[in-house]
Amino acid sequence: MSAPVYHRRVPTVNSMGWSTTVLNEVSTLFVEECRMRQGTVLDIGAGLGVATLAALETGARVIANDADMGQLESIGARSGEARERLRLAKGRFPYKFKLDKASLEAVHASHVFHFLTGRQLEIGAASLHWWLKPGGRVFAVAATPYFGPFANFAAEYEARVGRGEAWPGWVENTRSITEHRLMSQVPKSIHLLDDRVLASVFERAGFEVEHCWMFRRHDLPASVHYDGRESVGLVARKI
Ligand SMILES: C[S@@+](CC[C@H](N)C(=O)[O-])C[C@H]1O[C@@H](n2cnc3c(N)ncnc32)[C@H](O)[C@@H]1O
Repeated sequence: MSAPVYHRRVPTVNSMGWSTTVLNEVSTLFVEECRMRQGTVLDIGAGLGVATLAALETGARVIANDADMGQLESIGARSGEARERLRLAKGRFPYKFKLDKASLEAVHASHVFHFLTGRQLEIGAASLHWWLKPGGRVFAVAATPYFGPFANFAAEYEARVGRGEAWPGWVENTRSITEHRLMSQVPKSIHLLDDRVLASVFERAGFEVEHCWMFRRHDLPASVHYDGRESVGLVARKI
């Protein structure tokens, strides 16, 4: 039987957004890091495994994590001879799986941090700091309040920032801020993040934030464009 042909964006089986089949800008940086450092890396919320499979191609040992085992098994089935360097770790980050101290060279998290509460983000950043070797980096990308379907929320977001709220992007019920037809494919609650909030989480966990910026991913469909700040990227180094 021939391998399944995936389109550029494929809905996740568990309504956790879409998995992409092309590397975004931050994922590309992660794969370059894998090539340079070699060793063991972690892909959180690996989805269909676009970054995991590219990292395996560099020779890295990859721990692919996801909340959904079916998606992880599909990565395993497509990993070919690299399967022996791939470990599938099912479980919700940051609570459901643990790694050894200083066991990782790099971490990737593409479009998963916006599914975590503020407290889960803090615990997650602390865990990553524990698991990374000194000098190891985190490469993360997430959705912002300036993601097209959430444009109605942008003014409320800025008002919350003005009031000094700790987690201004937490939206308890996405259906209350958008009627976009794509919302059936995302969880009820979402945590939209900007560069200030994401950088602050990692700084408080002891990371040096090398770069944290808002941008438009090259693979983002025009139907969800807003003002060029649809995604937030983070590169943070364990010191
Ligand atoms: C939007 S998809 C992104 C997949 C892939 N990283 C990409 O960029 O194409 C989010 C993935 O994260 C997984 N996920 C959501 N919350 C998670 C959590 N707390 N821990 C681990 N995986 C999670 C979902 O099952 C889904 O596969």
